[in-house]
Formats: sequence, structure tokens, C-alpha cells
Amino acid sequence: MNWNTFPTADALSDHAAQLLLSAIREDPRLVLGLPTGRTPIGMYQRVVRECSREYHCFRDVVTFNLDEYAGVPPEHPASYSAYMQQHLFDHVDLDPANAHLPNGVAPDLDAECLRYEAEIREAGGLGLTFLGLGRNGHIGFNEPGTPFDARTRVVELTPSTRHANADLFPGGNVPTRAITMGIGTILESRAIVLLVAGEGKQEAVARLRSGIIDETFPASALWKHETVTVLATTAF
Ligand code: GLP
Repeated sequence: MNWNTFPTADALSDHAAQLLLSAIREDPRLVLGLPTGRTPIGMYQRVVRECSREYHCFRDVVTFNLDEYAGVPPEHPASYSAYMQQHLFDHVDLDPANAHLPNGVAPDLDAECLRYEAEIREAGGLGLTFLGLGRNGHIGFNEPGTPFDARTRVVELTPSTRHANADLFPGGNVPTRAITMGIGTILESRAIVLLVAGEGKQEAVARLRSGIIDETFPASALWKHETVTVLATTAF
């Protein structure tokens, strides 16, 4: 695991954006795994800025988001689909047909999970996946206790995760379930970048750094992967 620390979230975002853009320059048909949350917003802003100067940045890129809330339609402002439109998709030349998110309102959510896995496989698998880190160590919506070989599936959100995302759902209607890529799915990505910034993450960083691999701490699964880069701020 390759660790990089940054004095500020801005410095982290600069670096993350450069990693993403240089991966696209190296492979214009890159298959990206993409996160949501507060942490990657700065990275997306920089990528958008840079791509407005470059010709056809995302033209042949394929993206798969890590997760989506169950029961939340794509047009809901707090959906991850709306987040991706707002922060990235609306501003770059990514073909909408190549931008994938799980459909949280599919009539059969289990079938939707299988379909999503099949789509990733058909695209040739994930090339580079960016992840955020939950305070309890979750990656995507893989909460503590998730088996490391889990595939894309419907999960129950923990009270702490629902609390952390509550401000996005005024009125207290925080979803109780989500669809998430599994840890097994994520670990098949050829390279992974974990972004860690934001309040209340010190403990999670210390636990990850300890190197102890344990299913009670989902991000520790990343130690089983050979090509992981961690970008973390030093101040939380
Ligand atoms: C959410 C997302 C995760 C994200 C995490 C951290 O629950 N499902 O993919 O990484 O929370 O979010 P933030 O970056 O806002 O701290």
C-alpha cells in the first residue's frame, strides 16, 4: 500500500485529479470505478476544469459508480446519480451510455445487482477505482462485517452511516438500504486509489495503517490488493 499524505484537502484533490487524468491519458478507454461523498468533490472539480481545456478527455472512458441508495430515483437530488451529474457527468464529454450506476429503483434489486456485475465484466473489468472511506471503515457501502469476497448486492445501512448522510435528506427520510459493489468486486479492479479526508477519520486512518486485516474493518481488505494508493490529509 502506497501512502501519500497532504497538508490540506485541496492538495489531496490536486493529486487525485492528476492521477485520474494521467490514467485516462495512458488509456483513453479506461474503465473507472467512481465514488461519491464529500471527499471526491474537489477531485471532480479539478478534473472538470482540466477537461474543459483538453479535447475529448472522457470520450471513450467507461465509468461504474460504487453504490446507490435503494428506493431513491436518479432524479432525486440526494441520489448518487444526481451527484455524479452535478459534479462530473454534466461537464465532461463522457458518453451517457458509458456512465453506469446501480438503479436503486429497479423492480427487482437482486436482479439489478447481478446485471451490474455482468456489465462490469462485459466492460472488461474495472481498471482504476477511486474509493472514499467511511468513518467506520466502510468502502462503497460495505459496512463492517462484510465478507471480503462479497459481490454487488443490496445492503442495510448502519445507523452511523445513515446519520453521516442525514443532512442530504431533509425531513429525516434517510434510506435504510443501498446497492453497493462488493469488496470482492472492488478488489478485482486493477488499481485502487483510496481518498481520505474529512472530520472524524483519524481512528479509521490509524486502524487502516496498522495493517491488521479484519472483516470488522472493511477498508483493511485493501491490504490484500497489490496496487493501492492511499491519499490522506494529515489534518482531520
Ligand atoms: C458514503 C459513501 C461512500 C463514501 C463515504 C465517505 O456513505 N457511500 O462511498 O466513501 O460515505 O463519505 P465522505 O467522503 O462524505 O466522508
